[in-house]
Amino acid sequence: MNGVTTPIVIDTDPGVDDAVAIMLAIASPEVEVKAVTTVFGNVALDATTSNAGRLLALCERADVPLAAGAARPLVHPQRGLAAEWHGTDGLGGRAAALPAPAAPDGRTAVELLADVLRASDRPVTLVPIGPLTNIALLLAVHPELAGRIGRIVWMGGSLGAGNTDGFTGGPPPRSAEASTHQTRGGGVAEFNAHCDPEAAHRVLTQADVPVTMVPLDLTLRCPAGPEWIDALAAAGPRCAALAAVITHYRAAFRERYGIDAVAVHDAVAVLEAVLPGTLRTTAKPIAVACDLGPARGATVGMPEGSGPPVQVALDADTDKVLAEILERLRRLG
Ligand code: BDR
Ligand code: CA
Repeated sequence: MNGVTTPIVIDTDPGVDDAVAIMLAIASPEVEVKAVTTVFGNVALDATTSNAGRLLALCERADVPLAAGAARPLVHPQRGLAAEWHGTDGLGGRAAALPAPAAPDGRTAVELLADVLRASDRPVTLVPIGPLTNIALLLAVHPELAGRIGRIVWMGGSLGAGNTDGFTGGPPPRSAEASTHQTRGGGVAEFNAHCDPEAAHRVLTQADVPVTMVPLDLTLRCPAGPEWIDALAAAGPRCAALAAVITHYRAAFRERYGIDAVAVHDAVAVLEAVLPGTLRTTAKPIAVACDLGPARGATVGMPEGSGPPVQVALDADTDKVLAEILERLRRLG
């Protein structure tokens, strides 16, 4: 490290893996977390904001500015929350066990993002790890600030199977047969893209700011298993609190996928912002299905030249990814 930190903003919908990601960012000396902004997604906005505030308080970083953003998608209603995975409180039933939330500072997410960009003497990395609504609004309201964004690293999308088949109607699959179907891709859209496809289209098809997309194709290849979770739980009281937050999510993975391991999707994207180049990318224009049919929210790799290239992270040393995340979290104690 050369002593110069990268300023970053986390835009988030905590969310269990968001919790891992936020704590990873705070624990990483390579970056300076300039702000946390919140968006609807896994649960409603009031809960995601309160959860982000609790995580900042847990890390004794109530000094990090926090602002609430979009409560709903740009155009069409959200089709479903992800409480089945993250618990109705968004933190696996453990939100109330965390410290009282740091308060949002009264600005909207777009206002806070704009203030951070204006004030920074270096390009800022934006790390959205939920629906892209706030980022689409920022680019629309403040096009003059696009040049101040170094890059956007987004956890979302998928070039293969999605993870939203529970949102097409009816109860989520419970049987082994249904779970197998899910694993093979019963839905085509990834959750963050599915929450606000129009916002994803806005961000992924613009040419003003470089975008790295960290899709399910890669994040599902980085499952944190029992040893990783046990090591986290043993690392100190903050990490133990995070491990407790993961418990419900772990049970959901066991039930849905039949594995004792969790995908820490959002933390993989934050790691790429912390250690640029950790993930290996392929440049591809991405189209987002914005119709109201069953493919709504699907992210499709398009031929070269058909749009601005998005750096799609499709490969990494997955053992190293998990080890780097754990090593940094341990510093929080
Ligand atoms: C994404 O969806 C959310 O449930 C997670 O927090 C993550 O951002 C994975 O598809
Ligand atoms: Ca998320």
